[in-house]
Amino acid sequence: MNPFLIVGNWKSNKTTTEAMEWLRNFQFSISNFQLKNTSIILCVPFILLYPLKKEIDRLHVPLALGAQDVSPFPKGAFTGEVAANQIKELADWVIIGHSERRAYFHETDEELVFEVEQAKQADLNVIFCVSDINMIVPHGVDVIAYEPIASIGTGKNMSAGEAADMLQTLKKKTGITRALYGGSVTPETVRDYSKVEGIDGVLVGGASLDPTAFFQLIDVASSYM
Ligand code: PGA
Repeated sequence: MNPFLIVGNWKSNKTTTEAMEWLRNFQFSISNFQLKNTSIILCVPFILLYPLKKEIDRLHVPLALGAQDVSPFPKGAFTGEVAANQIKELADWVIIGHSERRAYFHETDEELVFEVEQAKQADLNVIFCVSDINMIVPHGVDVIAYEPIASIGTGKNMSAGEAADMLQTLKKKTGITRALYGGSVTPETVRDYSKVEGIDGVLVGGASLDPTAFFQLIDVASSYM
């Protein structure tokens, strides 16, 4: 059985100093903890990938790293973009198509297809976000994340039963076997998602920013694995 995936998404938060402090606190909690069939991925701003990777390797923290976006272009003359092969040196995962990228940066379905292509060429694992089960999911996606807009950052999480139904439909439609729910997942609400069949993990925004809350969430989820 695939491990339950807990993916933290820091969005556009934390300076390098704050990130290092988060990691020290998180390591303090997780170092004596027995993770049961659970994998943790932390998706951070590009500039934090390098310092976090160095510290994660040095302290042997059980965390994989991911980026939150990738250039739709290969390396080259694309000022301001970060190419997939640059990410791959520091991380194994990337989130593509988050609703905030679509809404605020006008990323289109076509562009997202190129992003997935670039990520796969660099051998990155892709977590592709949709907020609606009818959205286009490009070929090559490894994990799908269903995040209803009304649930993101609002405290109005979708019930686990309803989320499981949505994920089931998405899996059938796309042939992708791993699917996550995201939207106001907290240490209090994660229990329901980890108990229900068909939810393979969670994508966590706000609750990943505090190392204690994030650890609590992992502790609860892991106890059901
Ligand atoms: P939230 O964010 O957990 O703060 O609702 C989830 C996300 O946007 O990935």
